[in-house]
Amino acid sequence: MDYFLYKNGELFCEEINLQEIAKEFGTPAYVYSKKTIERHINVYKNAFQKKDSLICFSVKSLSNISILNILKEKDCGFDIVSGGELQRALHIKTNPKKIIFSGVGKSNEEILKGINNEILSFNIESESELFRIEKIASENNKVVDVAIRFNPEVDSGGHEYIKTGRKGDKFGISPNDLVLKLSHYIYNSKHLRLIGLACHIGSQIGDLESYKLTAINIRQLAEEIDKTGNELKFLDLGGGLGIPYNSDKTPSPKDLVSIIEEELKDRNEKIILEPGRSITGNAGILLTKVEYIKDNFLVVDAAMNDLLRPALYDAKHDIWNLKQNDSDNKKWTIVGPVCESSDILAKDHEMNASEGDILAIKTAGAYGFVMSSNYNSRVRAPEILVDNNQYTVIRKRESFKDLIRNEVSLND
Ligand SMILES: Cc1ncc(COP(=O)(O)O)c(C=O)c1O
Repeated sequence: MDYFLYKNGELFCEEINLQEIAKEFGTPAYVYSKKTIERHINVYKNAFQKKDSLICFSVKSLSNISILNILKEKDCGFDIVSGGELQRALHIKTNPKKIIFSGVGKSNEEILKGINNEILSFNIESESELFRIEKIASENNKVVDVAIRFNPEVDSGGHEYIKTGRKGDKFGISPNDLVLKLSHYIYNSKHLRLIGLACHIGSQIGDLESYKLTAINIRQLAEEIDKTGNELKFLDLGGGLGIPYNSDKTPSPKDLVSIIEEELKDRNEKIILEPGRSITGNAGILLTKVEYIKDNFLVVDAAMNDLLRPALYDAKHDIWNLKQNDSDNKKWTIVGPVCESSDILAKDHEMNASEGDILAIKTAGAYGFVMSSNYNSRVRAPEILVDNNQYTVIRKRESFKDLIRNEVSLND
């Protein structure tokens, strides 16, 4: 559920008419609803009835510091995948003991920064990474808390590019024999402590069966790890819950948590989840103006550099006209101005639209702004946060100065 609704034929975000925002800040522009984000977090938190839990929001899905602050105020931790994301979490004064560091390619500098800030855990993704963290811990005379990210070998997730939990995927460690060998190794290490077992099976997952299998796998592996002498403190089932981009039906966090609580009822560890999309996806839209109509093309002022998902994953987003009018609907191909044939935001999209109309590309809060670029020397769009009847620019539109900031002119 979200707070983008028509009132008297005009699209509002909470109490704000979106035409007002388009008029004041121009287009393209990202708009987020604070109330929607808070609602989703509450749904996750209230879903846990029996188990101690921590929701570590996946920073990569929407990393603006004002958004992270909303989540911090709701007691969330953070799942990070880079030094930059670590710095964002520390910048807003997150308790480091709520930060989980995932990712297959952690550099020495990133590891050291995590160690020095005493984060909750590094989710180790390979044998080499384990030895590297141990070496850095030893050089700095520290004992570092780690979790092993294993591959539950569950085939799930939407597009091929967002499946992550299978044998042969670049993420996580498999087979389980290797996980157990490494658990033994950590038990005997002076500089590492195994406190968790983690996994993440993919993104935009629409079936609960995959999560059930994952929960069973994590329980069975945790039982084996018990025998190595390590005392696990958390089981982390990752993120990945799907959301409705069109009219597709997706499971609720409540149903997800009830399966996890049932399958893990005999375990005492804290449960960690790392949701991204299901917290911020439908809390954001991208406003864009229809510049031209040409045959069945709506040429809008947002492009693949603003919202990459349709070009990258063939993702479908619903698109609404800010002025509600379902008469004379036509089927449009909605394209941006970038010089690539793949710069298509929607195909065969049925709506009523005229030149100058403002459209809202829905469900653009997650993996939207964060994937934007300056391709075609286009400045990045602003991000605006609506809170009831107020709005604030939480990232300004870039300028030409921003575009060339780090460039060096040989003629100056
Ligand atoms: C390790 C990890 N955790 C959590 C997430 C968040 O996934 P989602 O946004 O689908 O919930 C991702 C996304 O790819 C991830 O790689």
